[in-house]
Amino acid sequence: MHPDFMLTDEVVFLNHGSFGACPRPVFEVYQAWQREAERQPVAFFQRRYDGLMDEARGHLADYVGADVDSLAFVVNATEGLNAVAWSLPWAEGDEILTSEHEYGALELTWQAIGRRYGTRLVRQPIPLPLSSPQAFVDALWRGVTPRTRAIFLSHITSPTALIFPVAEVCRRARQEGLWTIIDGAHALGQIPLDLRALGADFYSGNAHKWLCAPKGSAFLYVRPEWHDLIRPLAVSWGCRPNSTFAQRMQWQGTRDIAAYLSVPAAIAYQRDHDWEAVRGACHALACQVHARIGALTGLAPLSPAQRDYFVQMVALPLPPCDPVILKARLLDEYRVEIPITQYTTADGQTRHLVRASFQAYNAQADVDALVEGLTKLL
Ligand SMILES: Cc1ncc(COP(=O)(O)O)c(C=O)c1O
Repeated sequence: MHPDFMLTDEVVFLNHGSFGACPRPVFEVYQAWQREAERQPVAFFQRRYDGLMDEARGHLADYVGADVDSLAFVVNATEGLNAVAWSLPWAEGDEILTSEHEYGALELTWQAIGRRYGTRLVRQPIPLPLSSPQAFVDALWRGVTPRTRAIFLSHITSPTALIFPVAEVCRRARQEGLWTIIDGAHALGQIPLDLRALGADFYSGNAHKWLCAPKGSAFLYVRPEWHDLIRPLAVSWGCRPNSTFAQRMQWQGTRDIAAYLSVPAAIAYQRDHDWEAVRGACHALACQVHARIGALTGLAPLSPAQRDYFVQMVALPLPPCDPVILKARLLDEYRVEIPITQYTTADGQTRHLVRASFQAYNAQADVDALVEGLTKLL
């Protein structure tokens, strides 16, 4: 186990992807900010708040290639994407085009939007294994109709851990006047982000997953031309008549902002610990899982084993099995904490996968434990 991470060594931890894990030096910065707020709450929230938030946002803006006025802290990607979904002016019959690989909670968001505004979520099949960005865009565009208003896609998917070619999608969507709403929950810290170049209209990502910041740190990016449209979910003092996007988002009532203020420390921690080398080592472990579980099941992988398609997290299809029992037995009998994910294809078939995440604290023995457990259990 890596000395900076506080994870128990009682389990083989292969699920960084769900909630992240924060190294001790960053966690100490987080706790120091919490103590600072308690020392003089009125000074902290009334006099220092905007300066501290602006400074932390500036660090994050540099890291993700955005201008600071287009960026806001939110608690998590769910909140950021909900702020967009509930702010946009939908009309009855509008279609939101998406893939079959999206995060279930956000599908629920779009269903709720549908019940409220009469929009429809269109889940477009994506042929697997993934090949070129062009093939992806062509497949997605088969779902575009005259009613399509927006495209909602993950940058890195939850059940299948695939990197989607969102830059190409955003480029074509822009030409055709469609909004792009990108769920970047898994991207920050795993793949380089340059939001200006990427061209998404709306992008929300978590710092608490792969950037290893404390839990409850995420951001929402909105392209300047849409700033006026977006409101936070909680309207508070930030939302005065002439407030900017950043001002509206920045004050949503009294909150614990210590996680936001620790994001610069998380960025510095990865920079100072040669995280590019860590990512490379993690990718090598993910490639091993790709090869060894593929050989074990004989099932075709979802993509080639290349960094264009996955970095530190990889998902492999499983043969028919009871996912709840498999997950429980991996933990109980082999001490392996790993998610068994699933997605349902547009024609109603449910597919199960095992999704392995690798972070600085993982090693060869963890791959061996997973492969051993799956070999026996499958
Ligand atoms: C693709 C994707 N989007 C959104 C989320 C939600 O993240 P959060 O709970 O931090 O909002 C997740 C969580 O795993 C995810 O995998």
